[in-house]
Amino acid sequence: MEAQVIDGRKMADRVLSSVNRAARALEQEYRVTPGLAVIIVGDDPASHTYVTAKTRTAQECGFSSVQHTLPAETAEVELMALIGRLNEDASVHGILVQLPLPSHLDADRAIQSIRPEKDVDGLNVVNAGKLATGDMKTGLVSCTPAGAMLLIEQVLGSDLAGLSAVVIGRSNLFGKPMAQLLLNANATVTMAHSNTSNLPAVCRSADILVAAVGRQKMVQADWVKPGATVIDVGINRIEDDSQSGKKSRLVGDVDFDMVKSVATAITPVPGGVGPMTIAMLMANTARAAWRATAQKEPSFCHQDLY
Ligand code: GUN
Repeated sequence: MEAQVIDGRKMADRVLSSVNRAARALEQEYRVTPGLAVIIVGDDPASHTYVTAKTRTAQECGFSSVQHTLPAETAEVELMALIGRLNEDASVHGILVQLPLPSHLDADRAIQSIRPEKDVDGLNVVNAGKLATGDMKTGLVSCTPAGAMLLIEQVLGSDLAGLSAVVIGRSNLFGKPMAQLLLNANATVTMAHSNTSNLPAVCRSADILVAAVGRQKMVQADWVKPGATVIDVGINRIEDDSQSGKKSRLVGDVDFDMVKSVATAITPVPGGVGPMTIAMLMANTARAAWRATAQKEPSFCHQDLY
């Protein structure tokens, strides 16, 4: 039997309609519009594509959304001064610095200077620390792992007790927060990475396998335990050798066509985890705006979503 293909676009739409409702309620009850500021430095085309989508979706959610596009040669003091102004601006509830930054800028310094309550990427040490200590109520969680977690919960429910999870990749942006979310949901978690020995065998032990390595089709069918849930976070652009007429297409870190006959549920690329990232960014912005205004959580919760 073939695996259930998890529809990330559908789940992202549900999150976005919830966010829309929360934004409207904030407007009606408090006359406050959630505000998102996105900073992009330089002209990396992929980053510009992502940022344009973030800004557009924020507008569709009824947010006020400002994009700050800075030239590649921007000095660190200028970037820090802009973050400082946005930190002080009460109409801005969320600040996001698109990564990667040009190499002369210190990305960590920039991110750590964002006020934790406006850090909608969840990368500030305060937010990372809250997640690490299991405080899921007052911090902000990194968007891609939060989105991947919703997809996992849709398949397996919110209590993963007794299940083993393997996360391949240990970045601050994804692997570490993903492992912590799984741990908070009671899974038994292994973090695998480029120095892990016998990676296929480690992966084969997983009831939940999450791949975030950036190597196309690395996870093969014989790496997957029969019946596992497989979450593919890879976005790799490859030359398109099919007859579609396009030059390139996106593939994940998982060999989808082979793995789908072994797994029980699997996310596709595109259309799996990808759409969830922007949706969760909007959810974090609505959450930050509600907390700043009403000192409470917004009128949505993810249990409403499925
Ligand atoms: N670059 C790639 N993914 C992300 C993300 O989730 N947040 C930021 N700020 N930059 C990114």
